[in-house]
Amino acid sequence: MSIRSFASPFKIIYLLLLTLATTEVLAFPAYESLGGLSARQLAEIVPTLNAKVPGRPPGPLRFSGAKLVDDRDHPFRAPGPGDMRGPCPGLNTLANHGYLPRDGVATPAQIIQASQEGFNMNNNGARFAAYSAHLMNGNLVTDLLSIGGKTRKTGQDPRGQPALIAGISEHGTFEGDASLTRGDDFFGDNFSFNPTLFDQFVDYSNRFGAGSYNLTVAAELRFQRIQQSIATNPEFNLRGFRHFTAFAEAAFAVNMFTDGRKTGAQAGHVDIDSARSFFRDGRYPRGFHRANKPSAAEGVELVIAAHFVPPGHNVGVNNYVVDTSQGGLTDLCGFYNFFINTTIKGLYPNPTGVLRRNLNINLDFFYESFNPPNCPQIFPYGRN
Ligand code: HEM
Ligand SMILES: *[C@@H]1O[C@H](CO)[C@@H](O)[C@H](O)[C@H]1NC(C)=O
Ligand SMILES: *[C@@H]1O[C@H](CO)[C@@H](O)[C@H](O)[C@H]1NC(C)=O
Ligand SMILES: *[C@@H]1O[C@H](CO)[C@@H](O)[C@H](O)[C@H]1NC(C)=O
Repeated sequence: MSIRSFASPFKIIYLLLLTLATTEVLAFPAYESLGGLSARQLAEIVPTLNAKVPGRPPGPLRFSGAKLVDDRDHPFRAPGPGDMRGPCPGLNTLANHGYLPRDGVATPAQIIQASQEGFNMNNNGARFAAYSAHLMNGNLVTDLLSIGGKTRKTGQDPRGQPALIAGISEHGTFEGDASLTRGDDFFGDNFSFNPTLFDQFVDYSNRFGAGSYNLTVAAELRFQRIQQSIATNPEFNLRGFRHFTAFAEAAFAVNMFTDGRKTGAQAGHVDIDSARSFFRDGRYPRGFHRANKPSAAEGVELVIAAHFVPPGHNVGVNNYVVDTSQGGLTDLCGFYNFFINTTIKGLYPNPTGVLRRNLNINLDFFYESFNPPNCPQIFPYGRN
């Protein structure tokens, strides 16, 4: 064998590696949000992406009773090094069991389908969560969304920052403050399971739920987390979208982390081992059955009634200022108007082409999921 023929396979491999490396440095990740990019950046990036027409959202499940979801076809596997996981224990669990792609990147339609199949989340709730997240944090051209966030040191992103792939962990979008088991972004990590906060979760479950998490615990713990953030986080934010989700998510865990075989007085109590399994490990407890009827935030009115906190934010530590300008739980239309006209319009001031088309399609899906009472749809980019 000559040196030449020896060298050529190496050269081929080298060229291949070089190609891969170059692609990695240059390519804009298919799941990274295009929000906030300049017209010039969009003109460079959008043509490199594989554009998709978003499909209609899936409808409700045909069989919507309890069933084994920790089944043979959906074994737990911990995420590998390239896999993305984020602040939502529900989505992390779905990805770790293969209801969602295990890399943590999915279309909104896949996320809706998986949330229904794996947790019996109701159709409206799943559509609302998936499209609001996608509009804020997804890539609207490729129709892909990351359920997580992590920093990658693969060159620079087009904004000149080390490439940050934020997905739904991006603070101030869907991700917010005063989470039950995650710290506030101000303290450095907005999405990881926080063992100290989980100890508090256990303590509250013992004190108010006789050792399980139920709506009474949800109400007390929701209030406690808000008080903690008011007392310690100068940038605490509970306005608009976060006002809505902070209360809703406290009820999600009651409804969707309860084994669906429990009925009557047994229902609506999540034991601590199960809670730890979901919140910390993103894993179904052995033999888990999903909820026995479609649900999402049922019972949230109890959580709200126990300790209502109006929408607002801290202006310095311990200085909570009420601010209803972004809407909230008691003003859904105000929330919708702010979300469309300020949040989304701010991310995408002047979209064109396929981006504009897909924005409009997703804005329709979002509005349909939610249908805020007495609140006409806004068309910030005209109609397709
Ligand atoms: C349908 C799509 C969904 C999306 C886009 C979504 C997204 C999110 C996000 C971004 C958060 C973080 C908010 C924060 O606390 O800062 C979150 C929290 C949470 N999600 Fe989801 N989620 C979805 C479905 C589900 C499902 C199916 C479940 C339950 C089975 C669930 C349960 C929860 C709970 C309990 C929290 C609160 C975690 C905590 O406060 O520590 N979610 N979700
Ligand atoms: C949220 O957390 C991630 C991971 O720690 C971090 O990179 C990011 O800067 C945080 N904040 C924002 C604004 O997304
Ligand atoms: C939660 O559990 C506690 C202790 O068993 C009980 O007193 C309380 O009524 C329960 N709350 C709900 C809403 O079921
Ligand atoms: C939203 O913005 C549009 C265009 O600026 C404006 O015409 C409309 O009145 C706004 N809608 C609401 C409800 O604020």
